[in-house]
Amino acid sequence: MHRSVIVRQVGPAALLLAGLVAAAIAVDAALHYAGLRWVGLYLGPVGTGILALSFLYSLRKRGMIAFGRPRQLLEFHETLGWLGSLLLLVHGGSHFNALLPWFALLAMVVVVASGITGAVLLRRALELVRAGAGEAPDGARLVLDAVTVDIMKKWRTVHMPLNAVFLTLAAIHIVTATLLRSW
Ligand code: HEM
Repeated sequence: MHRSVIVRQVGPAALLLAGLVAAAIAVDAALHYAGLRWVGLYLGPVGTGILALSFLYSLRKRGMIAFGRPRQLLEFHETLGWLGSLLLLVHGGSHFNALLPWFALLAMVVVVASGITGAVLLRRALELVRAGAGEAPDGARLVLDAVTVDIMKKWRTVHMPLNAVFLTLAAIHIVTATLLRSW
């Protein structure tokens, strides 16, 4: 891989993931220090709401809503996906009551890592298309477009099942935690 690609794309992507874990540890420590540990419980629903909002991108992509530009909504998805995951890591990270929520958290981190990988692949493919589009004849441009679509198709075959695992575990956790909680 070309060095500049590592500097411009892979490096920031790795930082984004490491930053997520570091930020979760820092926020959790700050809450403990301030005697606000209880706040973590409420970060569960807030983080879930933020993740749910991030799926506006999917609704737009599938034509279920008409507002917003897909590109901006994808950036919105990436930012909210990161932020929602941070809050959910703080929500679940510092205590252990059951295995299932931990598997849900683990699956979430894997999904975020996969999302960040997808973002790198997409940007790299778009860069190639843009670089080629200037001088390439129509035929070559079509090949580059097809390569982008193909890369993302392959990525989706990994990303979507990971998502399904995460969403299933999260849903079971939300239902059981709500039912078992003594209000
Ligand atoms: C727990 C957090 C996340 C969840 C549950 C999640 C889920 C998803 C899902 C279900 C899709 C498919 C969208 C569709 O086709 O309808 C998707 C696409 C995508 N996600 Fe995420 N994601 C998360 C976080 C992130 C993060 C943090 C990033 C990057 C920083 C990211 C980048 C992407 C990209 C680039 C796509 C592909 C866009 C496309 O080609 O359609 N995701 N994500």
